[in-house]
Amino acid sequence: MAENSVMDNDKYLDEIEDSIRTIGVLTSGGDAPGMNAAIRAVVRRALAKGLKVRGIRRGYHGLLKEEIIDLSARDVSDTIQRGGTILQTARCKTMRTEEGQQKAAAICKKYGIDGLVVIGGDGSFAGAQKLANLGVNTVGIPGTIDLDIACTDYTIGFDTAVNTAMEAIDKVRDTSTSHERCSIIEVMGRDAGYLALWCGIANGAERILMPEEHDYDEQALIDDILANKKRGKKNYIIINAEGVGDSINMAKRIEEATGIETRATILGHMQRGGSPTCKDRVYASIMGAMAVDLLCAGKTNRVVGYKNGEYVDFDIEEALAMKKTISDYQYNVAKTLAL
Ligand code: ADP
Ligand code: F6P
Repeated sequence: MAENSVMDNDKYLDEIEDSIRTIGVLTSGGDAPGMNAAIRAVVRRALAKGLKVRGIRRGYHGLLKEEIIDLSARDVSDTIQRGGTILQTARCKTMRTEEGQQKAAAICKKYGIDGLVVIGGDGSFAGAQKLANLGVNTVGIPGTIDLDIACTDYTIGFDTAVNTAMEAIDKVRDTSTSHERCSIIEVMGRDAGYLALWCGIANGAERILMPEEHDYDEQALIDDILANKKRGKKNYIIINAEGVGDSINMAKRIEEATGIETRATILGHMQRGGSPTCKDRVYASIMGAMAVDLLCAGKTNRVVGYKNGEYVDFDIEEALAMKKTISDYQYNVAKTLAL
Protein backbone atom coordinates (compact mmCIF):
# COMPACT_ATOMS: atom_id res chain seq x y z
CA MET A 1 0.00 0.00 0.00
CA ALA A 2 1.31 3.44 -0.91
CA GLU A 3 -0.11 5.20 2.06
CA ASN A 4 -0.81 4.55 5.73
CA SER A 5 -1.72 6.70 8.65
CA VAL A 6 0.83 6.73 11.42
CA MET A 7 -1.61 8.60 13.67
CA ASP A 8 -4.05 5.69 13.53
CA ASN A 9 -1.40 3.14 14.26
CA ASP A 10 -0.20 3.24 17.84
CA LYS A 11 2.39 0.53 17.29
CA TYR A 12 4.67 3.10 15.65
CA LEU A 13 4.76 5.09 18.86
CA ASP A 14 6.46 2.45 20.99
CA GLU A 15 8.30 0.10 18.71
CA ILE A 16 12.00 0.76 18.12
CA GLU A 17 13.95 -1.42 15.72
CA ASP A 18 17.22 -2.61 17.30
CA SER A 19 19.10 -1.33 14.27
CA ILE A 20 18.10 2.31 14.96
CA ARG A 21 20.33 4.04 17.50
CA THR A 22 21.24 7.34 15.88
CA ILE A 23 19.03 9.66 13.84
CA GLY A 24 20.47 12.34 11.56
CA VAL A 25 18.58 15.41 10.38
CA LEU A 26 19.26 17.94 7.62
CA THR A 27 17.47 20.76 5.78
CA SER A 28 17.96 21.07 2.03
CA GLY A 29 16.89 23.33 -0.85
CA GLY A 30 15.18 26.67 -0.11
CA ASP A 31 14.56 27.36 3.57
CA ALA A 32 11.00 27.67 4.86
CA PRO A 33 9.56 29.04 8.12
CA GLY A 34 8.71 26.09 10.35
CA MET A 35 11.79 24.05 9.47
CA ASN A 36 13.13 24.76 12.98
CA ALA A 37 9.95 23.37 14.52
CA ALA A 38 10.49 20.18 12.50
CA ILE A 39 14.16 19.93 13.51
CA ARG A 40 13.22 20.47 17.17
CA ALA A 41 10.57 17.75 16.97
CA VAL A 42 12.97 15.29 15.35
CA VAL A 43 15.58 15.96 18.04
CA ARG A 44 13.25 15.75 21.02
CA ARG A 45 11.15 12.83 19.77
CA ALA A 46 14.33 10.85 19.12
CA LEU A 47 15.91 11.78 22.48
CA ALA A 48 12.66 10.83 24.24
CA LYS A 49 13.01 7.38 22.67
CA GLY A 50 16.56 7.05 23.99
CA LEU A 51 18.24 7.64 20.61
CA LYS A 52 21.21 9.84 19.75
CA VAL A 53 20.70 12.73 17.30
CA ARG A 54 23.14 14.21 14.83
CA GLY A 55 22.49 17.44 12.96
CA ILE A 56 23.97 17.88 9.50
CA ARG A 57 24.70 21.47 8.55
CA ARG A 58 24.11 22.92 5.05
CA GLY A 59 22.08 20.06 3.56
CA TYR A 60 23.77 17.48 1.34
CA HIS A 61 26.69 19.88 0.81
CA GLY A 62 27.43 19.76 4.55
CA LEU A 63 26.93 15.99 4.63
CA LEU A 64 29.61 15.55 1.96
CA LYS A 65 31.90 17.92 3.91
CA GLU A 66 31.15 16.00 7.15
CA GLU A 67 29.67 19.05 8.87
CA ILE A 68 28.00 16.86 11.46
CA ILE A 69 27.24 17.86 15.06
CA ASP A 70 25.59 16.17 18.03
CA LEU A 71 22.29 17.72 19.00
CA SER A 72 20.89 17.85 22.54
CA ALA A 73 17.43 18.94 23.73
CA ARG A 74 18.93 22.29 24.74
CA ASP A 75 20.41 22.88 21.27
CA VAL A 76 16.88 23.27 19.93
CA SER A 77 15.59 25.42 22.80
CA ASP A 78 14.13 28.77 21.78
CA THR A 79 13.96 27.82 18.10
CA ILE A 80 10.32 26.92 17.40
CA GLN A 81 9.41 30.58 16.84
CA ARG A 82 12.40 31.37 14.60
CA GLY A 83 12.32 31.59 10.81
CA GLY A 84 15.02 30.06 8.59
CA THR A 85 16.80 26.87 9.61
CA ILE A 86 19.26 26.61 12.48
CA LEU A 87 21.07 23.87 10.53
CA GLN A 88 21.45 26.11 7.47
CA THR A 89 20.61 24.81 4.03
CA ALA A 90 22.22 24.54 0.62
CA ARG A 91 21.89 23.23 -2.88
CA CYS A 92 24.52 20.66 -3.83
CA LYS A 93 25.33 19.59 -7.38
CA THR A 94 27.63 16.73 -6.30
CA MET A 95 24.70 14.98 -4.62
CA ARG A 96 23.12 14.55 -8.05
CA THR A 97 26.04 12.33 -9.12
CA GLU A 98 26.41 8.63 -8.30
CA GLU A 99 29.83 9.30 -6.81
CA GLY A 100 28.42 12.00 -4.53
CA GLN A 101 25.55 9.77 -3.42
CA GLN A 102 27.90 6.90 -2.59
CA LYS A 103 30.16 9.23 -0.61
CA ALA A 104 27.13 10.63 1.26
CA ALA A 105 25.93 7.12 2.17
CA ALA A 106 29.44 6.15 3.34
CA ILE A 107 29.60 9.27 5.54
CA CYS A 108 26.22 8.43 7.12
CA LYS A 109 27.59 4.97 7.94
CA LYS A 110 30.87 6.42 9.26
CA TYR A 111 28.94 8.65 11.70
CA GLY A 112 26.62 5.81 12.73
CA ILE A 113 23.55 7.51 11.26
CA ASP A 114 21.03 4.65 11.06
CA GLY A 115 18.13 6.84 9.99
CA LEU A 116 18.18 10.19 8.20
CA VAL A 117 15.39 12.79 8.19
CA VAL A 118 15.54 15.08 5.14
CA ILE A 119 13.49 18.28 5.33
CA GLY A 120 13.06 19.88 1.89
CA GLY A 121 11.28 19.63 -1.44
CA ASP A 122 11.07 17.10 -4.28
CA GLY A 123 14.75 17.52 -5.18
CA SER A 124 15.80 16.80 -1.61
CA PHE A 125 13.54 13.72 -1.57
CA ALA A 126 15.21 12.46 -4.76
CA GLY A 127 18.51 12.65 -2.84
CA ALA A 128 16.95 10.79 0.11
CA GLN A 129 15.71 8.08 -2.24
CA LYS A 130 19.22 7.58 -3.63
CA LEU A 131 20.56 7.23 -0.08
CA ALA A 132 17.81 4.73 0.79
CA ASN A 133 18.85 2.64 -2.23
CA LEU A 134 22.38 2.67 -0.83
CA GLY A 135 21.23 1.32 2.54
CA VAL A 136 20.65 4.49 4.60
CA ASN A 137 17.14 4.55 6.09
CA THR A 138 15.55 7.84 5.06
CA VAL A 139 12.30 9.74 5.66
CA GLY A 140 11.47 13.06 3.96
CA ILE A 141 9.43 15.91 5.41
CA PRO A 142 7.90 18.40 2.91
CA GLY A 143 9.45 21.83 3.47
CA THR A 144 8.89 24.54 0.87
CA ILE A 145 6.96 27.80 0.64
CA ASP A 146 5.88 26.80 -2.90
CA LEU A 147 3.34 24.09 -1.88
CA ASP A 148 4.43 22.25 -5.02
CA ILE A 149 4.83 18.74 -3.59
CA ALA A 150 2.21 16.47 -5.14
CA CYS A 151 1.77 13.93 -2.36
CA THR A 152 0.71 16.47 0.26
CA ASP A 153 -1.86 19.23 0.73
CA TYR A 154 0.48 20.94 3.20
CA THR A 155 4.16 21.90 3.04
CA ILE A 156 6.12 23.54 5.84
CA GLY A 157 6.41 27.29 5.28
CA PHE A 158 3.57 27.90 2.83
CA ASP A 159 1.17 29.18 5.48
CA THR A 160 3.70 31.67 6.85
CA ALA A 161 4.84 32.79 3.39
CA VAL A 162 1.31 33.33 2.11
CA ASN A 163 0.43 35.37 5.21
CA THR A 164 3.61 37.44 4.86
CA ALA A 165 2.85 38.10 1.20
CA MET A 166 -0.79 38.90 1.96
CA GLU A 167 0.20 41.56 4.51
CA ALA A 168 2.71 43.09 2.11
CA ILE A 169 0.14 43.18 -0.70
CA ASP A 170 -2.39 44.93 1.60
CA LYS A 171 0.21 47.68 2.05
CA VAL A 172 0.83 48.02 -1.68
CA ARG A 173 -2.94 48.21 -2.20
CA ASP A 174 -3.21 51.23 0.16
CA THR A 175 -0.81 53.32 -1.88
CA SER A 176 -2.15 51.95 -5.17
CA THR A 177 -5.67 53.11 -4.22
CA SER A 178 -4.45 56.56 -3.14
CA HIS A 179 -2.76 57.08 -6.50
CA GLU A 180 -5.44 55.25 -8.52
CA ARG A 181 -2.77 53.08 -10.05
CA CYS A 182 -2.44 49.63 -11.45
CA SER A 183 -0.08 47.49 -9.34
CA ILE A 184 1.64 44.28 -10.35
CA ILE A 185 2.89 42.34 -7.34
CA GLU A 186 5.13 39.39 -8.05
CA VAL A 187 5.12 36.53 -5.56
CA MET A 188 7.44 33.51 -5.35
CA GLY A 189 6.52 29.91 -6.14
CA ARG A 190 9.10 28.76 -8.67
CA ASP A 191 7.04 26.94 -11.36
CA ALA A 192 3.89 26.77 -9.26
CA GLY A 193 1.08 29.30 -8.79
CA TYR A 194 -0.20 28.35 -5.31
CA LEU A 195 1.18 31.46 -3.57
CA ALA A 196 -0.25 33.63 -6.37
CA LEU A 197 -3.68 31.97 -6.26
CA TRP A 198 -3.99 32.21 -2.47
CA CYS A 199 -2.80 35.83 -2.39
CA GLY A 200 -5.09 36.64 -5.30
CA ILE A 201 -8.10 35.40 -3.33
CA ALA A 202 -6.97 36.73 0.07
CA ASN A 203 -6.09 40.18 -1.28
CA GLY A 204 -9.07 40.48 -3.60
CA ALA A 205 -6.90 40.96 -6.66
CA GLU A 206 -8.46 41.91 -9.98
CA ARG A 207 -6.21 39.45 -11.83
CA ILE A 208 -4.03 36.46 -10.97
CA LEU A 209 -1.32 35.34 -13.36
CA MET A 210 0.00 31.83 -12.78
CA PRO A 211 2.27 29.55 -14.82
CA GLU A 212 -0.52 26.94 -14.83
CA GLU A 213 -2.86 29.39 -16.56
CA HIS A 214 -3.03 28.69 -20.27
CA ASP A 215 -5.20 31.56 -21.48
CA TYR A 216 -2.99 34.50 -20.47
CA ASP A 217 -3.62 37.22 -23.03
CA GLU A 218 -2.06 40.62 -22.34
CA GLN A 219 -4.43 42.51 -24.65
CA ALA A 220 -7.43 41.05 -22.80
CA LEU A 221 -5.78 42.14 -19.53
CA ILE A 222 -5.29 45.68 -20.86
CA ASP A 223 -8.95 45.82 -21.98
CA ASP A 224 -10.05 44.65 -18.55
CA ILE A 225 -7.96 47.32 -16.79
CA LEU A 226 -9.67 49.99 -18.89
CA ALA A 227 -13.13 48.50 -18.29
CA ASN A 228 -12.34 48.32 -14.56
CA LYS A 229 -11.60 52.05 -14.51
CA LYS A 230 -14.91 52.74 -16.28
CA ARG A 231 -16.69 50.68 -13.58
CA GLY A 232 -15.35 53.21 -11.06
CA LYS A 233 -12.74 51.01 -9.37
CA LYS A 234 -9.83 52.93 -7.84
CA ASN A 235 -7.05 50.52 -8.52
CA TYR A 236 -6.20 47.30 -10.32
CA ILE A 237 -4.17 44.70 -8.45
CA ILE A 238 -2.44 41.98 -10.45
CA ILE A 239 -0.80 39.16 -8.53
CA ASN A 240 1.84 37.74 -10.81
CA ALA A 241 3.55 34.43 -10.07
CA GLU A 242 7.32 34.24 -10.32
CA GLY A 243 6.82 31.45 -12.88
CA VAL A 244 5.22 34.02 -15.22
CA GLY A 245 7.66 36.77 -14.21
CA ASP A 246 8.57 39.81 -16.35
CA SER A 247 6.63 42.12 -13.96
CA ILE A 248 8.74 45.25 -14.59
CA ASN A 249 8.40 45.11 -18.38
CA MET A 250 4.75 44.14 -18.06
CA ALA A 251 4.15 47.30 -15.96
CA LYS A 252 5.79 49.45 -18.66
CA ARG A 253 3.68 47.85 -21.41
CA ILE A 254 0.44 48.22 -19.43
CA GLU A 255 1.13 51.87 -18.56
CA GLU A 256 1.86 52.65 -22.20
CA ALA A 257 -1.26 50.89 -23.49
CA THR A 258 -3.72 52.16 -20.83
CA GLY A 259 -2.30 55.53 -19.84
CA ILE A 260 -2.79 54.41 -16.21
CA GLU A 261 0.25 54.70 -13.94
CA THR A 262 1.48 51.19 -13.29
CA ARG A 263 4.07 49.99 -10.77
CA ALA A 264 5.67 46.59 -10.27
CA THR A 265 6.66 45.27 -6.83
CA ILE A 266 8.64 42.05 -6.55
CA LEU A 267 8.22 40.72 -3.01
CA GLY A 268 11.20 38.35 -3.27
CA HIS A 269 12.94 36.65 -0.37
CA MET A 270 11.03 38.48 2.38
CA GLN A 271 8.37 35.80 1.71
CA ARG A 272 10.77 33.09 2.93
CA GLY A 273 11.60 34.72 6.26
CA GLY A 274 9.88 35.55 9.51
CA SER A 275 8.46 33.75 12.49
CA PRO A 276 6.36 30.72 11.47
CA THR A 277 2.58 30.81 11.92
CA CYS A 278 0.88 28.58 14.48
CA LYS A 279 -0.10 26.17 11.67
CA ASP A 280 3.47 25.86 10.42
CA ARG A 281 4.79 25.26 13.97
CA VAL A 282 2.19 22.60 14.76
CA TYR A 283 2.21 20.68 11.45
CA ALA A 284 6.01 20.77 11.31
CA SER A 285 6.23 19.47 14.89
CA ILE A 286 3.91 16.55 14.17
CA MET A 287 5.69 15.70 10.92
CA GLY A 288 9.09 15.82 12.67
CA ALA A 289 7.90 13.39 15.34
CA MET A 290 6.28 11.14 12.70
CA ALA A 291 9.50 10.93 10.72
CA VAL A 292 11.29 9.61 13.81
CA ASP A 293 8.48 7.15 14.54
CA LEU A 294 8.63 5.81 10.99
CA LEU A 295 12.40 5.30 11.17
CA CYS A 296 12.04 3.60 14.56
CA ALA A 297 9.46 1.25 13.03
CA GLY A 298 12.07 0.18 10.48
CA LYS A 299 10.57 2.19 7.60
CA THR A 300 12.76 3.71 4.92
CA ASN A 301 12.40 5.57 1.62
CA ARG A 302 9.22 7.26 2.92
CA VAL A 303 7.94 10.80 2.82
CA VAL A 304 5.51 12.26 5.32
CA GLY A 305 2.47 14.16 4.01
CA TYR A 306 -0.84 15.66 5.01
CA LYS A 307 -3.71 14.53 2.80
CA ASN A 308 -7.47 14.88 3.20
CA GLY A 309 -7.15 15.93 6.85
CA GLU A 310 -4.77 13.17 7.89
CA TYR A 311 -1.03 12.81 8.41
CA VAL A 312 0.15 10.04 6.10
CA ASP A 313 3.30 8.65 4.56
CA PHE A 314 4.21 7.48 1.07
CA ASP A 315 6.97 5.63 -0.70
CA ILE A 316 9.30 8.34 -2.07
CA GLU A 317 9.28 6.97 -5.60
CA GLU A 318 5.47 6.92 -5.67
CA ALA A 319 5.34 10.39 -4.10
CA LEU A 320 7.69 11.82 -6.74
CA ALA A 321 5.60 10.28 -9.53
CA MET A 322 2.39 11.94 -8.31
CA LYS A 323 0.94 14.97 -10.09
CA LYS A 324 -0.76 17.96 -8.53
CA THR A 325 -2.88 20.49 -10.38
CA ILE A 326 -4.09 23.85 -9.29
CA SER A 327 -7.87 23.97 -8.78
CA ASP A 328 -9.69 25.39 -11.82
CA TYR A 329 -12.70 25.92 -9.58
CA GLN A 330 -10.74 28.06 -7.10
CA TYR A 331 -9.23 30.07 -9.94
CA ASN A 332 -12.69 30.58 -11.42
CA VAL A 333 -14.03 31.75 -8.03
CA ALA A 334 -11.14 34.22 -7.72
CA LYS A 335 -12.03 35.67 -11.15
CA THR A 336 -15.72 36.08 -10.23
CA LEU A 337 -14.93 37.81 -6.95
CA ALA A 338 -12.84 40.43 -8.77
CA LEU A 339 -15.94 41.94 -10.44
P1 ADP B 1 13.97 21.21 -3.28
O1 ADP B 1 14.41 20.14 -2.34
O2 ADP B 1 13.37 22.38 -2.59
O3 ADP B 1 13.15 20.68 -4.43
P2 ADP B 1 16.25 21.40 -5.07
O4 ADP B 1 15.53 20.91 -6.26
O5 ADP B 1 17.18 22.57 -5.20
O6 ADP B 1 15.28 21.87 -3.90
O7 ADP B 1 17.02 20.16 -4.45
C1 ADP B 1 17.78 20.31 -3.26
C2 ADP B 1 19.00 19.43 -3.35
O8 ADP B 1 18.60 18.05 -3.42
C3 ADP B 1 19.86 19.64 -4.59
O9 ADP B 1 20.74 20.74 -4.45
C4 ADP B 1 20.62 18.33 -4.65
O10 ADP B 1 21.69 18.32 -3.72
C5 ADP B 1 19.58 17.32 -4.19
N1 ADP B 1 18.94 16.70 -5.34
C6 ADP B 1 18.05 17.26 -6.20
N2 ADP B 1 17.71 16.39 -7.18
C7 ADP B 1 18.41 15.26 -6.95
C8 ADP B 1 18.52 14.00 -7.61
N3 ADP B 1 17.82 13.72 -8.71
N4 ADP B 1 19.35 13.06 -7.08
C9 ADP B 1 20.05 13.32 -5.97
N5 ADP B 1 20.00 14.50 -5.30
C10 ADP B 1 19.20 15.45 -5.77
O1 F6P C 1 11.56 27.00 -3.53
C1 F6P C 1 11.48 28.15 -2.75
C2 F6P C 1 11.88 29.37 -3.55
O2 F6P C 1 11.79 30.51 -2.72
C3 F6P C 1 11.08 29.58 -4.84
O3 F6P C 1 9.82 30.17 -4.61
C4 F6P C 1 12.03 30.44 -5.63
O4 F6P C 1 11.82 30.23 -7.01
C5 F6P C 1 13.38 29.93 -5.22
O5 F6P C 1 13.22 29.24 -3.99
C6 F6P C 1 14.41 31.02 -5.05
O6 F6P C 1 15.63 30.43 -4.78
P1 F6P C 1 16.91 31.25 -4.31
O7 F6P C 1 16.77 31.48 -2.83
O8 F6P C 1 18.04 30.36 -4.64
O9 F6P C 1 16.92 32.55 -5.04
